[in-house]
Amino acid sequence: MRPRRGLACAMADARYALEPDRKVLEKMTRAVGDFVVDQVATLGEQPSFDLDGADAVRASFREPVPEEATHLEAILERLRPAIAKSYNTAGPGYLAYIPGGGVYAAALAALVAAATNRYVGVTQAAPALAQIEETAGRWLCDLMGLPPAARGLLTSGGSLSNFSAIVTARHERLGEDLAGGTIYFSEETHHCIAKAARLAGFPRGALRPLPTDERFRLRTDILEEAVRADRADGLRPFLVVANVGTTNTGAIDPLPEVRRVADGYGLWAHADAAYGGFFRLAESGEALLRGVEGFDSITLDPHKGLFMPYGLGALLVRDGEALARAHRESAHYVQDLAGEGSLGVADLSPELSRDFRGLRLWLPLQLHGLAAFRAQLTEKLALARWAHEELRQDPHLEVLDAPQLSIVAFRLRAAENEAEHLSLELLRRVNERRRVFLSSTRLRGRYALRICVLSFRTHEEHVREAVGALREEARALLAG
Ligand SMILES: Cc1ncc(COP(=O)(O)O)c(C=O)c1O
Repeated sequence: MRPRRGLACAMADARYALEPDRKVLEKMTRAVGDFVVDQVATLGEQPSFDLDGADAVRASFREPVPEEATHLEAILERLRPAIAKSYNTAGPGYLAYIPGGGVYAAALAALVAAATNRYVGVTQAAPALAQIEETAGRWLCDLMGLPPAARGLLTSGGSLSNFSAIVTARHERLGEDLAGGTIYFSEETHHCIAKAARLAGFPRGALRPLPTDERFRLRTDILEEAVRADRADGLRPFLVVANVGTTNTGAIDPLPEVRRVADGYGLWAHADAAYGGFFRLAESGEALLRGVEGFDSITLDPHKGLFMPYGLGALLVRDGEALARAHRESAHYVQDLAGEGSLGVADLSPELSRDFRGLRLWLPLQLHGLAAFRAQLTEKLALARWAHEELRQDPHLEVLDAPQLSIVAFRLRAAENEAEHLSLELLRRVNERRRVFLSSTRLRGRYALRICVLSFRTHEEHVREAVGALREEARALLAG
């Protein structure tokens, strides 16, 4: 059979071969390298967000799958506007939600991992690479003060870490029978906990979002009462989730007291430290997060507090074997791989085949050393304290709490019936300058703005820019 014309042509031209020769490989890699360097080196000059015309760019990507090949350069050129028309989440002015940033070394690690494409799901298939992944997890356990029996699992993010934590707690405390199991957390807790609990088989009626104190921290007296009442009703309280930095305000629940209540009632104590956990590396960080080292499991997000690109979370479990008890399954077709060695990531998580994400953590830590991250995290805490002090002194703004970590929440000082729409307008005007990007939330039902300083690219000048813009626009709004 003669190949079709287009196919023959594609096969003859090395540029289009699925297996390019060395020269073409080099050329392709250079083209992509030039493209990303151009993107990353100009991050500081790019607007903090730009959605002008984004719909048209988006529409241009609704297309049928192409039968024929396209030049790499042409494809990269199409990506340029797609990247530009977005929130600049990697830029220094991004102070919304929970920023990350994206340390470049992790992108290089991702390229190495994907290009070499070794299998790290089972230890035997790539022992040393599996060890790199295990070592990266071990480092995280050490950083959080967990004992040698602890195990660190790298996930795709905090939501999946929390999911595996709940599945592990369920298995350890309830066994096969989930009936009557109840879960406790503050009403400031990230919504992924409720989502994970439901995915793990617990209906909404099994969830107990509890009120917080004046600093948005879980009230352990209320926690204890709730657990007691549920027990008296014949239910089976089995898990409490404490926040190590809430998304709204960065509040840290009283960790030692939560642990005490957990011990008193046989609950698994899980810490959602997705946002706040890595502040343990900052100066005085251990004191700030005192008690986290006593928890049964901890969620961390290297794609937040270690500034890695999205797609890198972690779950640390004090008794590492518990992860295996909750997740491990077997089958005949993997019998050649079962065996000796240590537990592979497939034994510890819902995943089997997956990327070698350990390299995305291990390589940047090798390259930069932990000290670089410590310095960054210390700086972020100081910048948030500075922003808080500046905003607190402004007569037009009401700051809601001193930052417990690197988030400052505030609102306009305006009559109650005007406060919300004026605050919305304040947010719009500040963001519209396109130098920084902030987001809003609700605290006890009332609209609030927030600044979250977390990117390694954010420094004093950027926080000054945000504070300056807020003060100017607040004054203009309240005067007008
Ligand atoms: C406290 C907290 N927990 C969990 C999550 C969910 O993490 P991810 O977005 O990595 O799934 C977030 C996300 O912002 C968070 O702030």
